[in-house]
Amino acid sequence: MRSPPAAAELSPMAVHGVAQTRAAVLGLGAYAPPKVLTNDDLARLVDTSDEWITTRTGIKRRHVAGPDQATSDLAVIAAQQALDAAAVRAQDLDLILVGTATPDMLFPATACLLQERLGAPQAGAFDLLAACSSFVYGLISAGQMLTSGLARTALVVGAETLSRLVDWKDRTTCVLIGDGAGAAVLGASDTGRGIYAGMVGADGSAGNVLKVPAGGSRMPMTREAIDRKLHRGYMDGQAVFKLAVRTVPGLIRETVARAGWTMEHVDLIVPHQANLRIIEAMASQLHLPMEKFVVNIQEYGNTSAASVPLALFEAVQGGRIHDDDRIVLAAFGGGFTYAACALVWGK
Ligand code: COA
Repeated sequence: MRSPPAAAELSPMAVHGVAQTRAAVLGLGAYAPPKVLTNDDLARLVDTSDEWITTRTGIKRRHVAGPDQATSDLAVIAAQQALDAAAVRAQDLDLILVGTATPDMLFPATACLLQERLGAPQAGAFDLLAACSSFVYGLISAGQMLTSGLARTALVVGAETLSRLVDWKDRTTCVLIGDGAGAAVLGASDTGRGIYAGMVGADGSAGNVLKVPAGGSRMPMTREAIDRKLHRGYMDGQAVFKLAVRTVPGLIRETVARAGWTMEHVDLIVPHQANLRIIEAMASQLHLPMEKFVVNIQEYGNTSAASVPLALFEAVQGGRIHDDDRIVLAAFGGGFTYAACALVWGK
């Protein structure tokens, strides 16, 4: 792993004899649109096959937003579910942080749209863009605001409609993605549960491997840009694959060490769902069995910022995560960004 110059950590140090306040997950929510595209559906759109997609990626199906569904429509459902699960009222939120690369519009932020729709007038609201790492970046950032006293209750959402950015005629990218949203309500806890360590990092020199060139100030959305499909996602798949496998196992090891744990302490890793082979390569490098990793890529594909909270939600729902389990969330994505968070589960 490249040593992370831009990395930040949450101190795992406990003051002897004094319970340390940590940011803990009080409730989770998740939403995937009902419309499903199977690999066979895609084989009717582009020159591909269920066999190729399954063996190269692990993906079988993906959920895709309907024509009337924007990112905030997915986010608001996941967010309300998380609030209900946490028994927190929207009006008591101090902070709403939405991780997304596919906001409803350039501005206002999707977090502000969510604030209005949830009815959370006291909450500060902003979006965070770290591509597929956005949710983990967001969880760490909101956690810091909680432990510093800047906020008491925070809503962190990862939500995407990547289907709007993908070129549905490009078989190298369209088979990989899906839409969805996941949300977590965070609150301060003195129980010994919550976030023990977080690391965020980036390698901007690898920014070109995954990008959407048009639609920003460098290249506004002109007819020429659209004709050249520069408003669609571009990806060098093999380069992303190598970066992920080179970076994330070391990142997980370092985050676990900063939490004061060893790898043997870790009960479950919730990785970004980009490619089953990437997760298998990480497991192999970390000398861990695949049972230690949550995998739901077969159902959703790569939902970018929504991928980690969707997988976390399903793991909790499926009874794979219990109070006091040691969990590591790990993500990577365009930027090139990466982030990991070690937490003890429970309020
Ligand atoms: N169906 C059938 N064939 C396909 C295909 C598809 N959907 N997509 C690509 N191919 C073809 C290629 O054209 C190539 O053909 P060629 O050998 O005739 O040139 C062949 O399959 C192999 O392509 P390659 O790119 O080498 O495949 P790969 O094993 O590297 O898998 C990815 C491609 C994209 C699945 C893989 O690189 C990957 O998952 N990378 C990471 C992507 C990622 O994580 N992105 C998001 C990061 S947040």
